[in-house]
Amino acid sequence: MAQTGNGSTGRRAAVVAGLRTPFVKSGGAFRDLSAVELGALLVNELVARSGIDPKEFDAVVFGQVIASPLVTFIGREMVLRTQLPRSVPAHTVSRACATSIQAVTDAAGQIALGDAQVVLAGGAESLSDAPFFASRPLAQAIVGASRAKGIVKKVRAFGALGPKDLAPVPPGLKEPTTGLTMGESAEKMAQVNGIARADQDAFAFQSHRRAAAAWASGKLAAEVMSVSVPPRHERIADFDDNIRKDVSLEAMAALKPVFDRRYGTITAGNASPLTDGAAAVVLMSEEKARALGVKPLGFVRAYAYAALDPRDQLLQGPAYAAPKALDRAGLRLADMDLVDMHEAFAAQVLSNLQAFASKKFAAEALGRAEPLGEVDPEKLNVNGGSIALGHPFAATGARMIHQTLRELGRRGGAHALVTVCAAGGLGAAVVLDRE
Ligand SMILES: CC(C)(COP(=O)(O)OP(=O)(O)OC[C@H]1O[C@@H](n2cnc3c(N)ncnc32)[C@H](O)[C@@H]1OP(=O)(O)O)[C@@H](O)C(=O)NCCC(=O)NCCS
Repeated sequence: MAQTGNGSTGRRAAVVAGLRTPFVKSGGAFRDLSAVELGALLVNELVARSGIDPKEFDAVVFGQVIASPLVTFIGREMVLRTQLPRSVPAHTVSRACATSIQAVTDAAGQIALGDAQVVLAGGAESLSDAPFFASRPLAQAIVGASRAKGIVKKVRAFGALGPKDLAPVPPGLKEPTTGLTMGESAEKMAQVNGIARADQDAFAFQSHRRAAAAWASGKLAAEVMSVSVPPRHERIADFDDNIRKDVSLEAMAALKPVFDRRYGTITAGNASPLTDGAAAVVLMSEEKARALGVKPLGFVRAYAYAALDPRDQLLQGPAYAAPKALDRAGLRLADMDLVDMHEAFAAQVLSNLQAFASKKFAAEALGRAEPLGEVDPEKLNVNGGSIALGHPFAATGARMIHQTLRELGRRGGAHALVTVCAAGGLGAAVVLDRE
């Protein structure tokens, strides 16, 4: 029995398989695919590679952050477009960049409660296929014209529109409470916490170096399917195309800041890129894994979500969620053999690490006598993170959990912490066990 996310004891969920597509810069090899199509390609391949009879699946939990209004129910589509039996129920989740963490913890919760034994959990995102909308006046004019009788009245419905009403409206990537984009919010964190540009660049440089080394060593090939891109199958995507093998600190230092052009520190080099991709894992109850003779990659020991006021440090969620998850696990940061922190921006990772180690933050923000502690850089994001690998919002959490468990297995470690910041001031953290 293990601690589940809400602290009660229940059946411990094993992660028995995982897979992702390559993470591809948006507008690239996956530009003609929707998130649902990417997700279905992945789920088909994952179920096939897992060797688990599709009939054994009890549920699917799948997410997307920037959902398409054309296919709104990605969860169920992962059943209807794949070899899973149509009798498998599914639901869709969204928790911004922590969406597939949510999918995994939903699955773990279903298993802990005994509601399911085998669950597929993941997410897909296509920022190449982000929906664009009509302006409110144009939408109203279209509705008005559809109701109007006769061609003259129909045409008149558009009469009051100005040129700016005709411009397409992109999806909102700004935090509604503050009106700031993620990049602007990270810029604010860099300023408040005194995170220097050179430190951000050095962190991002390391993300690329480690991700490139992980690919070169063959580690990631086992976690990533190659995709012959439909419909024409002229392109094969078989690697994460944002990784820069030849990354140089000099070239990074020459990049101009993007979100505060005058005084800013965040550049295309030390931010995660807009990315397309999908990732998922398969979870099982321990008993079911034993009964099917499946060897788990590891287990979800505990998890927690936390939130702070978005007007404060928007992307500081890990500093709030990680202590909660570790408490629920009954473990300390020092017990972790690996720490994987989502890299939205280098400034956000470095700000969170600063808060982890700060006695002041522990006392004032968490009401704790002692800080969580320092993270050993040799245990942090050891195979690179979202800055280099890319960040298809809804796929990142599942990518991190799978990648971390495999690394934990290679190292023979016992425990790992995976933690993600998300819009709205949210944080998510999961403590994983190898055995
Ligand atoms: C930062 C951002 C605006 C950059 O977008 P972009 O300008 O399209 O990025 P590009 O990949 O074209 O890079 C811009 C330039 O920097 C260069 N560059 C990027 N990374 C580099 C690196 N590590 N080293 C050297 N050069 C680099 C590119 O080669 C490109 O050069 P070019 O203009 O000569 O071709 C975009 O990635 C972004 O919005 N990221 C944040 C996403 C976000 O908010 N996510 C939510 C987090 S939770």
